[in-house]
Parts: sequence; structure tokens; C-alpha cells
Amino acid sequence: MRIVLGVAGGIAAYKAAHVLRLLTEAGHEVRVVPTRAALEFVGRATWEALSGHPVTPEVFDDVDEVAHVRLGRQADLVVVAPATADLLARAASGRADDLLAATLLTATCPVLMAPAMHTEMWQHPATRANVATLRQRGVHVLDPDSGRLTGADSGPGRLPEPEAVVDAALALVDADGTPRTPDLLGLTVVVSAGGTREPLDPVRFLGNRSSGRQGVALARTALARGARVTLVAANLAVRPPAGVRVVPVETTAELQDAVRECAVDADVVVMAAAVADFRPAAGSDHKIKKSADGTVAPLELVQNPDVLAGLVADPPRPGQVVVGFAAETGDATGDVLHHGREKARRKGADLLAVNAVGGGLGFGTEDNAVTVLDGSGEVVAHVEGTKDAVADGLWDAVVDRLGR
Ligand code: CTP
Repeated sequence: MRIVLGVAGGIAAYKAAHVLRLLTEAGHEVRVVPTRAALEFVGRATWEALSGHPVTPEVFDDVDEVAHVRLGRQADLVVVAPATADLLARAASGRADDLLAATLLTATCPVLMAPAMHTEMWQHPATRANVATLRQRGVHVLDPDSGRLTGADSGPGRLPEPEAVVDAALALVDADGTPRTPDLLGLTVVVSAGGTREPLDPVRFLGNRSSGRQGVALARTALARGARVTLVAANLAVRPPAGVRVVPVETTAELQDAVRECAVDADVVVMAAAVADFRPAAGSDHKIKKSADGTVAPLELVQNPDVLAGLVADPPRPGQVVVGFAAETGDATGDVLHHGREKARRKGADLLAVNAVGGGLGFGTEDNAVTVLDGSGEVVAHVEGTKDAVADGLWDAVVDRLGR
């Protein structure tokens, strides 16, 4: 894929070198377009060596190649990291006063901007208005992370981690460079991901093998398709995507509260989390010790509420689409699909994504395969491939369901 990496003049420009590295290592052809100010932070030699291409901030270099038009036109994806307050202002007002601004005016591909600046600048009404204008035009502007800034100050304004910027950018296009359709634009979605943990004592818990990869892929692809996304994150083994609101939870009770609260204004709720069905009847507030005589006290469990069934029976927002997952293994009484159909009817969710687990499938793996059933157990889709591809297939089914 042909990618333009724009770098504006902020201290986070040094992190853009890592963004560049990640993109080239993934096999993409990257042209770096720094602003003049960016070169004050990281010099031309770094960008040229890492990208393998000449670099200039000026429109009057290589005039015979008409770079200010060609770069934008030929790009499959434009990533600006960091995007400073000044760059956002220039992009929002359509300026063409350097090669990066001109490239943004000629690009017809998806554009992702990752702002980084001091909190006051990010919160200034001028910047807020510029971000709103850019988003309204279809530019994907990430919210910056909160944390330590250049000086002793901290607050919202940090560039998200390079890996998160790259993930968010690459999610905007298919593997062959085709832009994803923003068919979830204007929708609010809540995705639960990961696996809940039920504490036995301060050091032990009952948990499960869910890494959260499929839920994170659902959040990332929903964002790329235009949705506002909240991720209710239960003990993820993977990084949540940049640009989604993350609500961390540990136990099933916490997950239930968070999902119900976040779902109040959601159009779609996807329960991808592996929710612990049982919890210890009484957790211990001190570490449970071994007994001298080798006896082990039996562990008494009680059943947790079924969060998905609760959403179906009593939706936080009437009319919202509720999607469940069913991790199944076949057994003597039926195969994976048999159990899936039975669960679809029992749970009554609008859609149920059934996947086979065990024997190396499902948990912690890169790929997945799901059969999507409706509430009556009818098959509406079958998708397999990477977890992003499966997520896209599931969103396609949601879009059909919404009649969009
Ligand atoms: N789920 C839930 N609350 C629970 C258990 C599961 O909301 N206490 C949700 C999961 O997030 C998933 C769906 O229900 O979307 C199915 O999860 P699964 O573990 O396959 O189903 P169970 O109802 O637990 O059925 P069983 O364990 O009997 O197969």
C-alpha cells in the first residue's frame, strides 16, 4: 500500500519515526512529508534513511514532478502523526502553504490524524472547532491520550502509542488498500471484550482464556467504519485501539454495570467478552493458606447474572441491536452449530456469532471463524479469516439488520 506519513512540528515527532518503522516493516511504501517545524525536532536524514525516499517540506522542490499533487493523489492512506494545533488549523481552513497541507488537499484516500499538543491547545475552542470541521469532512481525528506532556504538566494531549496509531490507520482500509465504507457513521456502539475474573482471595481468581483480540478487532473496525465506540475491557491481553473510549472492568458484576451504563445511548451492543458464569460464594479478604493436614476446603460457587440475557429482556435503550457470541465445542448431544442454534433461541439476541473453540481454535489465536445466527437460529452469515475480517463480516450483518 502507498502511504503518506505527514509529520507536524511537535516534540512527539520523534515517535513518528517509530510509526514509520512499523509501517515499512509491515511492507508498505511510505513517503514522509514533514513540515518545516517538524525538521526542527527530527532531521531530514532520519526520515530519508528510514523511508528510503527523499524528503522535503516544500512545494518548490522537485517542481517537475508536481509532488504536491502526485503524493496525495497516489496515496492509499494518509497518516499525520503528530498533528499539531497549527496543522489542524491549516488543514481545516484548506491552506496549501507547504507540501503536507497541499497533499492533504489533493488526497482522496482515508486520512487519519493523531493530534499531540499541550492540553490548553487541545481544549481551545479554535482547536475544538477545527477538529469538528475535519471530522465532519470525514477525516479520522484520534483523541490524544492523557498523561505526561513535554514539561512537568500532564493531561490530554499525548500522541497515542505508535502501535495504536498504526492499527487505527490501517483499519481505515482493507488489506488491498480499498477504503472501508463509513456505513456505521452516526452510530454509537458498545463492545465488551476480554474475560472477566472473579477473585478467590487477594492473589487468586477464577478466569478464562479470552485475550480480547476479537472484541478489540470489533472496536477497531467499527471505529474505522465511522462509529463512536466504547470498549468495556475485561482484563485484555492486547492493547485497546486508539480512538475508542475504554472502560476497564474486572468482574462480571463490574462488566454488567459498565455495559448497561454505556449502552444507554448505544445503537448496537456487542457482547464479545467471555463472561465468568460463576463466582466464589464468598471471596476471602486474606490469602487462603494451605492446611497442615493436606485437606482442601471445597469451593462453593454461585451463578453470575447473564448480562446478555439481561440486555435482551430489559434493553438500556429500546430498539438497540444486541449481538452475542457463543464459544462452543461439540459434544455427544450435538455439534457446534446445534448448540449455537439452541443458544440463539434461548438468549434471544438479534444476532449470535457462534465460533468453535478448543483444539487450538478461538482463544488467543490470530484467526477466527464464526457463523452468525439470528434470534430464531437461522444462519445469516458465515465469516472466517483474521479477527479484523471476522469483525467486518459481523458489522456487515449488523448493517443488514439495521437496514442501512
Ligand atoms: N454472557 C453474558 N453473561 C454471562 C455469560 C455469558 O452476558 N454470565 C454472554 C457472552 O458475552 C456471550 C454470550 O453470553 O456473548 C454467550 O456466552 P457463553 O459463555 O457461550 O454462553 P453461556 O450462556 O455461558 O452458556 P454455556 O456456558 O451454558 O454454554
